Amino acid sequence: MEKEKIIVAIDIGTSKVTTVVGEIDELGDLHIIGFGEAKSKGIDKGIITNRNETIKSIRESVNLAETTSGFKIVDAIVNVGGQHIEFQNDKEFLTFGVSQKEITHEDIESLHAKVISKVSKENYEIIHALAKRYIIDDENDVLDPEGMIASKLEAEFHIILDKQTSYYNLKRVIEAAGINPVKFVANPVASATSVLYNEEKEMGVILLDIGAGTTDMAIYVEGAIEYTKSIPIGGNQITMDIAHRFKVSKEDAETLKKEYGVAIVEAVEPEETISIYPRGYEEAVEINKSLLVETIEARLLDIFDLIKKELQLTQLLGKVNAGIVITGGVANIPHIKTLAEASFGTDIRIGRPKDYRGFSEKLSFPQYATSIGMLNILRNDNSFSSSLDMKQNSNFFDMLKKFAETVRSWFY
Ligand SMILES: Nc1ncnc2c1ncn2[C@@H]1O[C@H](COP(=O)(O)OP(=O)(O)OP(=O)(O)O)[C@@H](O)[C@H]1O
Ligand SMILES: [Mg+2]
Repeated sequence: MEKEKIIVAIDIGTSKVTTVVGEIDELGDLHIIGFGEAKSKGIDKGIITNRNETIKSIRESVNLAETTSGFKIVDAIVNVGGQHIEFQNDKEFLTFGVSQKEITHEDIESLHAKVISKVSKENYEIIHALAKRYIIDDENDVLDPEGMIASKLEAEFHIILDKQTSYYNLKRVIEAAGINPVKFVANPVASATSVLYNEEKEMGVILLDIGAGTTDMAIYVEGAIEYTKSIPIGGNQITMDIAHRFKVSKEDAETLKKEYGVAIVEAVEPEETISIYPRGYEEAVEINKSLLVETIEARLLDIFDLIKKELQLTQLLGKVNAGIVITGGVANIPHIKTLAEASFGTDIRIGRPKDYRGFSEKLSFPQYATSIGMLNILRNDNSFSSSLDMKQNSNFFDMLKKFAETVRSWFY
């Protein structure tokens, strides 16, 4: 494999900060060559609650990724998420006078600039202006108009905005951790990029990334993104329910959920028991496993009900024919597909990140949809192709690189 370009993504989530280093080979394929993960502290549902703790978590995750990849990380693509992100669908056009002309890359850029200036609003930062489709001379829908002849170029856009205060606080925290954020990506866009298939997007599909603190939603209709939203619900609520009901610490509740948790009570043998360590008890207490699962099932159904309410408000459900794809850490819960199918009354697929190689034993889980999605966005972004190489070598890192090659061989 010829070494080409190095790209880096940092997913700052409620439960973890993940740094993934990718290498794009000469064929354009993405190879993961470095991975670092740290417990996320000081950030909750996309909001920074403790600046220093967040900086430390980012640094820890980046340091581990530097060790496994052997590259010093300078630039990275970073996610934004949380209730403070909003979207807007809008149209804009350019006319070229009476005569037709060949549409250039610059024309497409000025159309983007025109829509960005139109939707700009005070106290908001525009994260994406995604062209859903281009229309030339009021008749033909095209995906890429560059090089075509027309006298009018129009486009429909899906624009994602973030509140400036949240955006700048996040940016400053990343910079304080010694990283230059070269691009921001909204969570639902990142996850959708790594788990959805084009056929699903064409048929109309709903993506749900259910994480620890937020559920990110995206709806695609006729191949294009139509709706994005981040709502403050997720797996932490299941953990808190377990902690309250069984009087155990949050850490114990998290372990019980991950070790013994399944989504439906019917999947548990009635006599099966597990040991828990409630506060104030000297010794372990045996409980029926079905009690734990009952708690998980009830909260999952609650989460699904809240999501359903949000989805109904979109009025897009009639255009969705490929069902729902669920990703994010919560998608790991065994039997969640069956429970979600019964609750939503539609086809459910568990989405795992695709379109990458290497570290697959580690990264093939739904909680890495955002990180892998960001790398794939960067890989396909022409505006980054010239300045894509994000690595910076030094003697120290040359040494690390040799060590990293050995570590890497364990993951391939
Ligand atoms: N095997 C599992 N069983 C049950 N729950 C799981 C399992 N694996 C992960 N989870 C849950 O998934 C959640 C973490 O998901 P994820 O890593 O996608 O979140 P995040 O990106 O850190 O947070 P967010 O995107 O909400 O800010 C946690 O609540 C965790 O307990
Ligand atoms: Mg997440």
